[in-house]
Amino acid sequence: MTDRPTILLIAPTFYDVSYSINPWMDPAAWARDPRGMHRQARASFDALHAALTAAGFAVEVAEGAPGQPDMVFPANAAVVLDGKAVLARFRYPQRRGEEAPFAAIFEALRARGLLDSVTTLREGCYQEGAGDCIWDAQRGHFWAGFGPRSSREAADAMAAQFGQEVVALELATEQSYHLDVCFCPLAGGEVLYYPPAFSAAALRLLHARVPAALRIEATEEDLRHFSVNAVNLDDQVVMTRTTAHLRGELGRRGYRLHEVDLSPYMLSGGGAYCMTLRLDRTSTPARRAVAA
Ligand code: ARG
Repeated sequence: MTDRPTILLIAPTFYDVSYSINPWMDPAAWARDPRGMHRQARASFDALHAALTAAGFAVEVAEGAPGQPDMVFPANAAVVLDGKAVLARFRYPQRRGEEAPFAAIFEALRARGLLDSVTTLREGCYQEGAGDCIWDAQRGHFWAGFGPRSSREAADAMAAQFGQEVVALELATEQSYHLDVCFCPLAGGEVLYYPPAFSAAALRLLHARVPAALRIEATEEDLRHFSVNAVNLDDQVVMTRTTAHLRGELGRRGYRLHEVDLSPYMLSGGGAYCMTLRLDRTSTPARRAVAA
């Protein structure tokens, strides 16, 4: 595996919005101008690539597959920790066709030494990758979302796969269909989250583990901007064009924002975090490489 902060992107060659499996998806808006939308999607992708590079990441780009438009969201393809990738099992048939091409992508990353192993999850549960299973480097455990997409049992399967604690949080709305839409742990120990997305039991778990001073409550506007769906590296945060509220909150706490116009991807219900997958996460606190 790699010691450098490394992040995977999937090129938007085959991206479009042609079906709807979450309430944000708008195939009609895409269909009004598919060529124009595709051009914008490419420009947004390039801007995201540049912002991630500026934030300090080594960026790996892999190709998607025809007929699988949502492959641009590799956060859903696997959970990666300590060099091990556990491949996702998608809930909806529209995305199940991604499993084989993603398996090939992860196998190629392993062959190049960027991963140590690639494993599949036992059958009988759904698990949609790092979008629903987020490593909290400050607390040293996973947070897993379940309900709309991943199954409750997937949290236990992940605990067994990685030998790490997994705190399962029930998602109470279709609007926050993946945990990464409404929840983002930050390097300073803060957690940015949208309270109405969670069941009462999930909120109790979250509040028990994250003291009030470290909780940053997102507003509905922040959620609609897909700004909770952010990529964080130390004090750098890469996100969609955000709100005055979050600019203030995060700026005050010392974070530097890289804002990118990701509107073509928001039409599919995605922001910056879901368009990426960290490959270098370790369970030991920040194993930072000597500058290459
Ligand atoms: N259209 C995709 C879906 O509904 C968007 C996925 C965004 N990914 C995420 N981790 N939130 O599955």
